[in-house]
Amino acid sequence: MDMDELYQKIDLGLRDLVIGKRIYHYNKIKSTQLLAISLAETNINTEHGTVIVADEQDEGIGRGKKKWASPRGGLWMSLIIKPKIDFAKINMISVISAISVCEAINDISQLKTFIKWPNDVLINEKKLAGILIDTNINNNKNDYIIIGIGINIDVDISKINLSIASNNIITTRATSIHNETKSKNIDRFILMKQLLRKIDFYLSLLENDRYHKKIIEIYKKLSNIVGKRIIIYHESLKKYSGIVKDIDNGGGLILERDDKLLEIIYSGEITIREQNDK
Ligand code: BTN
Repeated sequence: MDMDELYQKIDLGLRDLVIGKRIYHYNKIKSTQLLAISLAETNINTEHGTVIVADEQDEGIGRGKKKWASPRGGLWMSLIIKPKIDFAKINMISVISAISVCEAINDISQLKTFIKWPNDVLINEKKLAGILIDTNINNNKNDYIIIGIGINIDVDISKINLSIASNNIITTRATSIHNETKSKNIDRFILMKQLLRKIDFYLSLLENDRYHKKIIEIYKKLSNIVGKRIIIYHESLKKYSGIVKDIDNGGGLILERDDKLLEIIYSGEITIREQNDK
């Protein structure tokens, strides 16, 4: 297998952490997510915390089986994790991943990004990063969760927007850190290091019940959605609209639908509307 262990090239200084102890770096592959899944399935080289990162992906995958444009200049990586948490808390992996990506970008770039529920990271209504979670949980030894993260650092945005326009009905325009900060050069590996530290930190909080509420509080603050009017879509079809009353303990939206029924939503794409805008 053509794998470079990044550790032999640059020291990310993550030896004290579980997440990122082993990092496989590729110049170009189809998709870090596909490789992570196939490794996890065979259970070879899949220690908890293993990271696969590529400079470029030929067939990057986004949520809902959409294409994810992944030219050079972005951070494209997948993490294999096997956390010691209850099945009921699995959705929290998406929550802590979103918090980690958002905070790591803000720390390194000084931007003020926020989370678009459930786990996109946006700035000025444009998408800067996305997260894709694949799980195989059957309560056996081979259970795994793959967290795929894509961050547009210094990529050609026109190319990315073209690709979004061709395969998305609900469009959120893309942007990059470079586009938003102009002058600043962000080192991909410094951002990656900060991100892995965050994920390591929030995973350890998640494994400890005492911090559950705190995590939800942080998520609420960064997503700033409570009180907003939203429209929710499933597979690009409008399901319903309503007002977000709160975020529940699992990161789900408590929605008061227009017909006044309360519903908790864990997945789907949303658009946020002004209060009176139907
Ligand atoms: C989204 O649709 O918002 C999720 C995008 C996830 C993209 C990342 S890039 C690294 C990993 N490998 C993939 O093929 N996809 C994820």
